[in-house]
Amino acid sequence: MFEKRKISNKFCISENIVLYPGDCLKLLETIPSGSLKLVVTSPPYNIGKEYEKRLKLESYIEQQSAVIHECVRCLSPHGSICWQVGNYVDNGAIIPLDTILYPIFSGLGLKMRNRIIWHFEHGLHCTQRFSGRYETIIWFTKSDKFTFNLDPIRVPQKYPGKKYFKGPKAGQYSCNPLGKNPGDLWVIPNVKSNHVEKTDHPCQFPVELIERLVLSMTDEGDWVLDPFLGTGTSIIAAIRHKRRGAGAEMSSKYIDLAKQRISQELSGTLKTRPMDKPVYDPVEAGNSLRIAPWSKKSDDNQLRLLERQARYHVK
Ligand SMILES: C[S@@+](CC[C@H](N)C(=O)[O-])C[C@H]1O[C@@H](n2cnc3c(N)ncnc32)[C@H](O)[C@@H]1O
Repeated sequence: MFEKRKISNKFCISENIVLYPGDCLKLLETIPSGSLKLVVTSPPYNIGKEYEKRLKLESYIEQQSAVIHECVRCLSPHGSICWQVGNYVDNGAIIPLDTILYPIFSGLGLKMRNRIIWHFEHGLHCTQRFSGRYETIIWFTKSDKFTFNLDPIRVPQKYPGKKYFKGPKAGQYSCNPLGKNPGDLWVIPNVKSNHVEKTDHPCQFPVELIERLVLSMTDEGDWVLDPFLGTGTSIIAAIRHKRRGAGAEMSSKYIDLAKQRISQELSGTLKTRPMDKPVYDPVEAGNSLRIAPWSKKSDDNQLRLLERQARYHVK
């Protein structure tokens, strides 16, 4: 399928890779109804990032609604839409975007299959609320007959050696040898400065996050679309697994980055974090920075002395 490794800037069903430099609504106009198996995206959150103009919330919802309507038109009857969002913040108050976008999807007759919590450990440190360490992926399907391949995305069991202890299967292994369902809480590092995939874009998807969606919700040769493509991550995840990938991006800076990353993917030189790599554990890795300088041994002794003294005084 990938003998034709051309990156086209116009949608045509016979292409493999489409990178549209412009407004996603213009790209969507050119896509035939029912032709996409997966639409996956992270839209602007209307929080004043460098690539967006902050709008009144009502106008933002209207804009999102127009894009969602078009995506649903282009979606296959057996297809899925995954909208990855965080919070809109208004004067210190948070509004989870999935809660305000949900009615648009359900109003179009789509069924929600999961609200996946994507947990990561790096981000802003808040002083007036708990720091945000998760975002959500809301997954909808157009009908009850949809593609869902569990085997390619299974993860290792916690206790693979566990056996049935009674009944007709007593003594046999009780788990699926291919692994378990990953569940709806996904712990995947976000792309911050030390991540191997980091570019100049402030909010990139990690490729492994989209690989899991592509592998489970599409088959080889299917079309995957990301209307707010950024650095091309969704196309990379799609073509890595022999799917077709399309996306629109307004900023020429990010189009250039996407083109560069897709070309690297095609030539096998793009560095990404593997899907099965465990999350870095500083204790297991023996990282010396994990010991706080203020709790070093000598200080510890000093503290213990003070504690003993305190007990003595109380008596
Ligand atoms: C949250 S970022 C997506 C980043 C992407 N997930 C990645 O992995 O790089 C949203 C992107 O949408 C782009 N964008 C905003 N409005 C757009 C529109 N109407 N059409 C196409 N792209 C748009 C922005 O320039 C920005 O790069």
